[in-house]
Amino acid sequence: MRSASTASLDFKAWLESHDSPEHDRIWLDSTWRAAVRRDLLRWFRRESRDLPWRVDSTPYRVWVSEIMLQQTQVATVIDYYHRFMKSFPTVRDLADASEQTVLSHWEGLGYYRRARSLHAAARKIVDEHEGEFPETYPEVLALPGVGRYTAGAILSIACGQRLPILEGNTQRVFSRWVANRAPVTERSATNLLWKIAEAMLPARDAGAFNQAAMELGALVCRPASPDCSSCPVSKYCRASSLGLQEVIPGKVKQLKYENRKEYAFVIPSLERCGDGKEPRYLIRSLPEGGRWAGLWDFPRTTEENYGNVGDASKALSDEAGLCLEVKKKLLTIQHAVTRFRIKLNVYSAKCELPRSSGLKVSRPWRLATLREMKDLPMSVTGRKIADYLANESSGREYA
Ligand code: ADE
Repeated sequence: MRSASTASLDFKAWLESHDSPEHDRIWLDSTWRAAVRRDLLRWFRRESRDLPWRVDSTPYRVWVSEIMLQQTQVATVIDYYHRFMKSFPTVRDLADASEQTVLSHWEGLGYYRRARSLHAAARKIVDEHEGEFPETYPEVLALPGVGRYTAGAILSIACGQRLPILEGNTQRVFSRWVANRAPVTERSATNLLWKIAEAMLPARDAGAFNQAAMELGALVCRPASPDCSSCPVSKYCRASSLGLQEVIPGKVKQLKYENRKEYAFVIPSLERCGDGKEPRYLIRSLPEGGRWAGLWDFPRTTEENYGNVGDASKALSDEAGLCLEVKKKLLTIQHAVTRFRIKLNVYSAKCELPRSSGLKVSRPWRLATLREMKDLPMSVTGRKIADYLANESSGREYA
């Protein structure tokens, strides 16, 4: 195998010597397609992983798995999937659950909008399809949170419909098969890869092909150090024959990260709970449209960079109609959200809490003990703060 730097030089020379795109000549050849398909499917029958959604692959089960697998590794998804299916074995069970219950089952998976869309889609299926998962492409595509990839995956895997899919794994696999060097985010590359995805489908059981191509990407044709020596289709792969598997697909431009300082406040209530021993803390359900919408969190800033705790507490006081008095620093949490690298400074604070609904926010605030928070869906950092308080104090109050 040649090194990536030598390979890129070779590749440049190769490109200059070709006027028409070589990749088209490869995938338009039906003999090539038939051979790749045959060897890939043979390998998949032998090597595919036993995954829970591959047993009894109903549209509902495949749908939930595909939504969970977006942006999340298979190994992480498995336990979440089992728990989810135990609580919501049917679309109706999911539709009947509260959004908070659904979010609780998602806590830790990230990208919470996926869970909210899943829930909204289940309600739509009950309202518009009498609780039966729709089985036509336009109807599935019309569900919240379902795009071309997810609709294709559900209908090909669960119903055997001849529909292509394209996601991270298959973008990489197809790019390498035909040595298409463009970053997969470029429009020309996306168009080409969808065409390949469609042309590759067998007449019957497109779902097996789609899963096999994703499985190859996950297990063998990995982003870094692809294992060409154990690849069932390496002899048909143009990138491998050119030694370019490490540099194809081309690198997607890295996002520019932005550093940001945000602030959260631990505000105990002066009123005690139950026997008066357990402190309760002010938490809020994060507003619609913003980060972690619908999840609970300690009052924190989410929209801006703040230079100091004074500015942050003033902004939050104004936004929520509180009058925060900052006390001491408790901890710092580093975390990343989209393009932001966030340093979250957590302070204890005091404030007079209005007795009723005098707090100015669109979603409810509440007081909760650490024990009660265990059963609430919380943001990643909200959960970290609650865990910190539980560990540090074993119930001692921060004020
Ligand atoms: N990644 C996303 N969906 C997948 C599936 N059905 N099989 C393997 N990897 C996947």
